[in-house]
Amino acid sequence: MSQHRDGFTSSFGVLVATLGSAVGLGNIWKFPYITGSNGGASFLLVYLLATLIVALPVMIAEIMLGRASRANAVTAFEMLAPKAQRFWSVIGYMGLVAAVLILAFYTGVAGWVFAYIFKSLSGSIHSTDPATAKAAFGALVADPMQVLFWQWLVLASTGLIIMLGVSKGIEAVAKKLMPILFLLLILLCIRSLTLPGAMEGVKFLFAPDFSKITAQVLLTAVGLAFFKLSIGMGTMLTYGSYFHSEQNIPLTATRVMLADLSVSLLAGLAIFPAVFAFGFEPAAGPSLVFMTIPAVFASMPFGNLFMALCFVLAAIAATGAILSILEVPVAMMSERLQFSRKKATAISVATVALFGIPATLSSSLTADWTLFGLNPFDLFDYISSNILLPLGGILICLFVGWVYGLPQLQQQLSNDGQLKNALLVKLLFILVRYITPLLIFIIMLKGLNLL
Ligand code: TRP
Repeated sequence: MSQHRDGFTSSFGVLVATLGSAVGLGNIWKFPYITGSNGGASFLLVYLLATLIVALPVMIAEIMLGRASRANAVTAFEMLAPKAQRFWSVIGYMGLVAAVLILAFYTGVAGWVFAYIFKSLSGSIHSTDPATAKAAFGALVADPMQVLFWQWLVLASTGLIIMLGVSKGIEAVAKKLMPILFLLLILLCIRSLTLPGAMEGVKFLFAPDFSKITAQVLLTAVGLAFFKLSIGMGTMLTYGSYFHSEQNIPLTATRVMLADLSVSLLAGLAIFPAVFAFGFEPAAGPSLVFMTIPAVFASMPFGNLFMALCFVLAAIAATGAILSILEVPVAMMSERLQFSRKKATAISVATVALFGIPATLSSSLTADWTLFGLNPFDLFDYISSNILLPLGGILICLFVGWVYGLPQLQQQLSNDGQLKNALLVKLLFILVRYITPLLIFIIMLKGLNLL
């Protein structure tokens, strides 16, 4: 009895930490703009399928590997693979590259969010006119000094949080503030849905046009599903290594997936009705929410204050996600090279700051530095979300399905037989051994135009 109660409290803490990694700019910024650029409802449907069939199995497998090894993403594979197969640790090294690329643009976007907190309070972005909103956003991202200042502020503050070891404090804060973010999103939805012309946006989000589904769209959906759940590069593995032995991994992963999905859907319902009501372009790209959110608040009493609060909450959600990505290189360096957490954090933050420069200046100085037609910002995003994360997912599946094996998977996921989930684990095993990796592989080949 007491053991059960114990398990419950700690299980809640783990849930919050894992959710803190999953929920972030991916929900509030990336999900709406990618859905808007890829056809709306049909994309949403494909994204839901990708989350269920592809991302959820990988998430469970990845957390399991972390808890089974209780180590960072490189050491985990060295420990769990047979001696002659140490090469599996390449998954961890790929994750390291993905971490730097993701943080390079992600902390830049978090910087825009920081800047928008102050802009909301000053009233300078308070307008429902698409042209004004576009100009305000354009002025920010085209100013190299401003964007770098905000990005470095984000990096310095998250670095400090890790160095001071107050991540636990941040989790406690996030735990209290996330319900407020939820409420605020619901308020935004109500405002957005009651605007004249709002139904257009609801249709865009829920009435699918299947002709819009192409191989590229499929790959984008898989990439977003991985990005959303923080999988394919070692974040969930590292967090899994901090999981309690009694934690029900499949249940925790499923709950995080569902909660994360609801935040994304709320963000979609807050954004798209307003996009159509005010005449914004749904396919505007990364600027979409930075133009639309101010417009929704501008038509509301105390709009400036609510808007600032909304960006504060977005900044906190982004911080939780950034901390979880930074944890990957920091855990690796401190466990493998015996660096102090301070030194490991300083090195990680400096590396990200360096790669962050070209990414963040992509609307100004480095706009012409294109490769395959993508500027550094889009390129880093594309390589990480559409190549490194899915590839990491394939390798994690193959490792669990063909090297780790069913008996060990059963033992880990049932917590040594305590949970009666043998059938579920069998199903998961079939998925990660055959179906999920094959699906990702085909979608990658097609989506990258290699087939
Ligand atoms: N999931 C987070 C978001 O949607 C971002 C994130 C955190 C992430 N950790 C990650 C993305 C690891 C990929 C890999 O905002």
